[in-house]
Amino acid sequence: MCGIIARVGDSDDAVDELLTGLENLEYRGYDSAGLAVKNGGGPNVFKREGEISRLKTALDDEAPSGGLGIGHTRWSTHGPPTDENAHPHTGCGDRVAVVHNGIIENHDQLREELQARGHVFESDTDTEVIPHLVEEHLAEGATAEEAFRRTVRRLSGSYAVAMLVEDSDAVYATRRGSPLVLGVDEGEYFLASDVPAFLDFTDDVVYLDDGDVVVAEPGGHVITDLDGNSVERTVKTVEWDPEDAGKGGYDHYMLKEIHEQPAALRQTLRGRADPATGEVTLDDFPPGTFDDVERVQFVACGTSYHAGLVGSRLLGTRGVPSQAFLASEYATSPPPVDGDTLVVGVTQSGETADTLAALRQAHAAGARTVAVTNVVGSTAARECDDALFIRAGPEIGVAATKTYSSQVVSLALFGERLVRDVTGSRSDDVERLLQGLADLPGQVQQVLDYSKARRVAKQYRDSDAYFFIGRDTVHPVAMEGALKFKEISYEHAEGFAAGELKHGPLALVTPNTPVFAVFNDRDDEKTLGNVKEVEARGAPVVAVAPEGHEEVVQHADEVLTIPDTHPDVTGVPANVQLQLLSYHAADILDRPIDKPRNLAKSVTVE
Ligand code: M6R
Repeated sequence: MCGIIARVGDSDDAVDELLTGLENLEYRGYDSAGLAVKNGGGPNVFKREGEISRLKTALDDEAPSGGLGIGHTRWSTHGPPTDENAHPHTGCGDRVAVVHNGIIENHDQLREELQARGHVFESDTDTEVIPHLVEEHLAEGATAEEAFRRTVRRLSGSYAVAMLVEDSDAVYATRRGSPLVLGVDEGEYFLASDVPAFLDFTDDVVYLDDGDVVVAEPGGHVITDLDGNSVERTVKTVEWDPEDAGKGGYDHYMLKEIHEQPAALRQTLRGRADPATGEVTLDDFPPGTFDDVERVQFVACGTSYHAGLVGSRLLGTRGVPSQAFLASEYATSPPPVDGDTLVVGVTQSGETADTLAALRQAHAAGARTVAVTNVVGSTAARECDDALFIRAGPEIGVAATKTYSSQVVSLALFGERLVRDVTGSRSDDVERLLQGLADLPGQVQQVLDYSKARRVAKQYRDSDAYFFIGRDTVHPVAMEGALKFKEISYEHAEGFAAGELKHGPLALVTPNTPVFAVFNDRDDEKTLGNVKEVEARGAPVVAVAPEGHEEVVQHADEVLTIPDTHPDVTGVPANVQLQLLSYHAADILDRPIDKPRNLAKSVTVE
C-alpha cells in the first residue's frame, strides 16, 4: 500500500497542498516521500527516503512553485526504501514524472524490453517502466494523453497512477485494482488514493471506477474509459471530520485494519498463485531455491508466532520436518541447527528484538535464514539471507490483525515452494489449497458483512474469563483469539489445544466462563467431544465453525459462522470472527483499543 496525490490549479501553491495531502496519507506508507511540480517546462522532482518530514526539510531550501503537481508516500514492495526507489519516477529524458500505487506484475518483462531498446533504469521499482514507456510513445509522436493510454494498455497487475508530462498543462491519471478518488473544487482538482488526502481543501468527491482515465487541467476535467469514451460519474459530498479521516470513517485503526483484510489478502496473493495449474510463483524463490534444505524452524513472537505455528503444521503434514519456536526461547536454548536447516523469522515489523536475536543465533550456527515480513527495509529483511514480503500495507493499531492473515497466506505459498524443493513433489492437494487461498478475500468479506460478533461480545460481557479451544490448524487460532482478547479488552482469556482442556484447564470452566470452540472440518468429532465436556459443566459454548455443521449447532449456545473451505485455511476467516469479537468486547468496555496499556507495536528489547 502506498499513497498517491495530484493537485491541479491556477495558484502556484501545489507544493504546500501536496505536502498536506501526503501527511494525511502517511498511514498508507512512510518509507519514502516525493513530489514533482510543474510550472511550464518539465516536472521538477524532489524525493527522499524516510518520513515526509525529511522531504519537507529538503524543500525548505529550494521549494519550487507551480500549480500542477503529483506526490507519493511509499510502502515498499519492490526494492528497499532509498532515494532512488522513492517516487515520482522519471524516464531517461526527465520529460515524464509518474507516481503509482499497486503492483505492475509484468514489470520484469517490460523492463527487459525497454532495456534492450536502450532505456537506462535508476530504481529497482516496478513503477519505473511506466515513464519509460510513455517517453517512447511521445518520441513516436503521440500526444501526452495518447502516450498515457497506450502505456496503460501494456500494464498488468494493480495500479493507481498519476502523471505529469513536459509541455502539457494536465495531470493524467487512471486506476485498476488500486483506489483513486477525484476531489473537485472551484478551479482546483485533486486525485488521491484516499479522500483524507484533500479533505482540507474540498469535500466534493468523485469515486472513480477501474478503467477510468482522468485528464484534469486548471480549466476543467474529463473522465473517459481507456478507449476514450466519455463516462458519467457523480460528485458526492463526504461528511467526514478531517481528524477522523485517517481512520477512513472507522472509530479505530484496528477496526479499519480488520476491514482492510480482503484488499490486503488480494495484494498478498497477487501474481503468486494459480489454482488451475497448481503453480506458485515467488519472484525471489524460483524452483530449486531450497533443494538443499532438510528441515525448517520458524521463530517468532506473539501473533507472528501463531502464524508460524500454522506455517509449521502446513509443512509437517506435507512431509517437510518442521517446528515453530518462540523466538525468546530459541535464543536462550537453541535447538540443533546445521547448514541444511532453514530458519524462518516471522515478524510483521521486522524489528522485534527477540526474533532478530533468534535469527542471528541461527545464522551464527550455520543455518540459512529467511525473513517473512511486512516491512521491506526492516532489520530482519536486511540481515536475513532472503526475505518474503507479505504486502499487507501499514498496520497502525498495536493489535496485529491484517498482518496475521497475510502472514498465514504468505506462509502457505512459501510452504508449497518448500514442499516441492525439499520432497521433490507437489502437495497432493495443491490445486485445492491454492483455490482455498484465492477464495479467502471474498470469504473474509462475507464474515465482515455478516458477523454477529458484537452481539456475542455483549451477551458475555460480564463473564469471569474467556477460553478458546481448537485443534490442528485452528489450535493456533484459539491461541491467537485469546491473545487478541486479553490484549485489548484486559479480560482474562486463555487459548488451549482442544484435547488439553481435560488435562487441567477444565477445572476453571464454570457457567460464567464462555468457551469459544474453533472448528476446521478436520477431526471435528473430537473437538465436539471437548465441547460436550464443557457443556456438561454448564459453560456457554460459542462455536466458530464452517456453515452447515448440524451437530455443532446443536451443542453450541451461539455460532459464529465461517464459509466452508480447505481445512488448512479455515483459520483465516475463523480468526477474523475472533478479531471482531475482541474488538467489540474492548469497545463495549471502552478500552483504548489502538494503544493498549503496557504494549508497543514494535518490541525492540529482549
Ligand atoms: O512485529 P512482530 O510481528 O515481530 O511482532 C511480534 C509481536 O510483538 C506481535 O505479533 C504482538 O503479539 C501483536 N501486536 C499482538 O497483537
